[in-house]
Amino acid sequence: MEARLQELKNEALEKIQAAQTVKELTDVRVAYLGKKGPITDVLKGMGKLPAEERPKMGALVNEVRAEVTESLEARMVLLEEQAINEKLQSETIDISLPGRPAKTGNPHPLTRVVEEIEDLFLSMGYEIAEGPEVEKDYYNFEALNLPKGHPARDMQDSFYITEDILLRTHTSPVQARTMEAKGGEPIKIICPGKVYRRDNDDATHSHQFTQIEGLVVGEDIRMSDLKGTLSIFAKKMFGEDREIRLRPSFFPFTEPSVEMDISCFKCGGSGCNVCKKTGWIEILGAGMVHPNVLEMAGYDSKRLTGFAFGMGPERIAMLKYGIEDIRHFYTNDVRFLTQFQRTEL
Ligand code: DAH
Repeated sequence: MEARLQELKNEALEKIQAAQTVKELTDVRVAYLGKKGPITDVLKGMGKLPAEERPKMGALVNEVRAEVTESLEARMVLLEEQAINEKLQSETIDISLPGRPAKTGNPHPLTRVVEEIEDLFLSMGYEIAEGPEVEKDYYNFEALNLPKGHPARDMQDSFYITEDILLRTHTSPVQARTMEAKGGEPIKIICPGKVYRRDNDDATHSHQFTQIEGLVVGEDIRMSDLKGTLSIFAKKMFGEDREIRLRPSFFPFTEPSVEMDISCFKCGGSGCNVCKKTGWIEILGAGMVHPNVLEMAGYDSKRLTGFAFGMGPERIAMLKYGIEDIRHFYTNDVRFLTQFQRTEL
């Protein structure tokens, strides 16, 4: 029995040294020290020994076990270290490889144009004012000289929520709200925001779109101030050699009212497909604030006067960048959106 134990020990020690991987070594442990291993077998066979020999054999078995375990553990430390080193080696990161460029988004083309217009007016001393999209009939119409039943209300088909509340059809109610809040003081604001109309969507109409309203109220504000301001705007947005022309028009909240055209930026005025052969492109509506509008908001229309204008940034962006369908702004097709990278504008 003693000889068998020695033999087993030598065998185990040899296999431990021969094991090349953690897995192989674990197999050796299971094979020799496990419950079904030969050393355990020897222990089990001790019952057959005469009683006086048992303690000696027991001690010997324990000795062999200890020796094999020690050798195994030492080898395990070595092999584990080796395995870690191999793994580190194989996972080495080549820090000299160029990185993958991170994809960055870019502002929506409409946001761009709105911000461009905002920056221009901010540079001329305007402030930005905002108002609610769910608006009172009073501010959307009545305070703008459009009493209930006024035929000009039909110019703007509306989404009513209740009889007195609707989705605003234009940004002009922000004029009325600001005037009311300012209590007779001078004003110089632009009001960008979303507006809603009951229109069927097509290439040039959308039930929701954007407007930017402008309002200046003060002493001695005249039509010539409006004209100068719009001229600067036209040149900044569409090129220094743009000319503007004002055509008589009608809006209930301004008197007189005008529509502003710019000389065609594509053909310079000789006539092309962009200006429909007229040489002029319609850009926005404007006028001198109607005395009724001033008075309703608590202004003395004898002392203070004002001009106002309203424009659609979608139309401006479409003209500027040759976009043929307004729906492109809202469907968020990345093939469209990524054409407006920072560097291109
Ligand atoms: N609110 C008008 C519209 O949506 C646009 C407009 C025209 C605004 C003339 C103005 C203005 O402030 O003076 O059709």
